[in-house]
Amino acid sequence: MLHTFFFSPSNTTRKYAKAMTEAFGEESQLIDLTHGPCEVESDLVDGDTALLISPVYAGRIPAMAAELFRQIDGHGMKAIVAVVYGNRDYDDALLELADIAAEDGFEVVAAGAFIAQHCIFPKVANGRPDASDMAIAADFIKRARESGKLDISTIKGTRPYKTPGAVPLRPQTEETACRSCGVCARECPTGAIDPVTLKTDKDKCITCCRCIAVCGTHARKFKGVMYVTAGKIFCAQNSKRREPELFF
Ligand SMILES: Cc1cc2nc3c(=O)[nH]c(=O)nc-3n(C[C@H](O)[C@H](O)[C@H](O)COP(=O)(O)O)c2cc1C
Repeated sequence: MLHTFFFSPSNTTRKYAKAMTEAFGEESQLIDLTHGPCEVESDLVDGDTALLISPVYAGRIPAMAAELFRQIDGHGMKAIVAVVYGNRDYDDALLELADIAAEDGFEVVAAGAFIAQHCIFPKVANGRPDASDMAIAADFIKRARESGKLDISTIKGTRPYKTPGAVPLRPQTEETACRSCGVCARECPTGAIDPVTLKTDKDKCITCCRCIAVCGTHARKFKGVMYVTAGKIFCAQNSKRREPELFF
């Protein structure tokens, strides 16, 4: 059986998680960690495989996701690890996730870095994952299923991992578009949005874009000169198409 653990505020990692899980071709369960821990460890038995898949934030695994992945008990099961990034770079994130899986007690058999539309600057890698990404993801998981132990030191990245830079941008509410339904507050993984005033607590917000992804009226968005300026520079520097990188 395959147990797929994923963290996915803006849903692109979820897309990869679902596609890979289906391609594995066995009984499976999807475990969504976006809103915190799930009590699933007792379901894991010898001979099962786990897939741990996470987005990349500032070249690392998001701190909240890393904490949740660390709570899984691998007890000798095989693990496949994968990261999803917005076409800039995944830096040390894949190595970090493989290290976490190994520390959990998994035997890591394969690792892959995949590309998706950047959730903060969606013009970058717009429309990805596309059909080619999905085909590579399916092949990856089929190959990983037959794979023996991976030498983690062959994964791109360095230890100590890079210190993640702070992302100064925060989504805001466009008052005229907001219907005060509160879905953004309910869905925010860190509880950063006040359910009554719908104001964002800048210290709690991790800029994960969950509120943008779930808002039915597109009222949550990035605004301001800093965003527009940063976006132009970011797009100019990161628009060249990158392809998945796989390690067995
Ligand atoms: C706070 C933050 C930091 C990010 N840092 C990076 C990065 O270092 N490199 C990169 O290529 N993409 C980066 N991204 C883009 C995400 O990795 C990408 O949009 C990913 O698909 C998001 O996954 P999700 O849709 O499952 O939430 C960042 C996104 C956020 C929100």
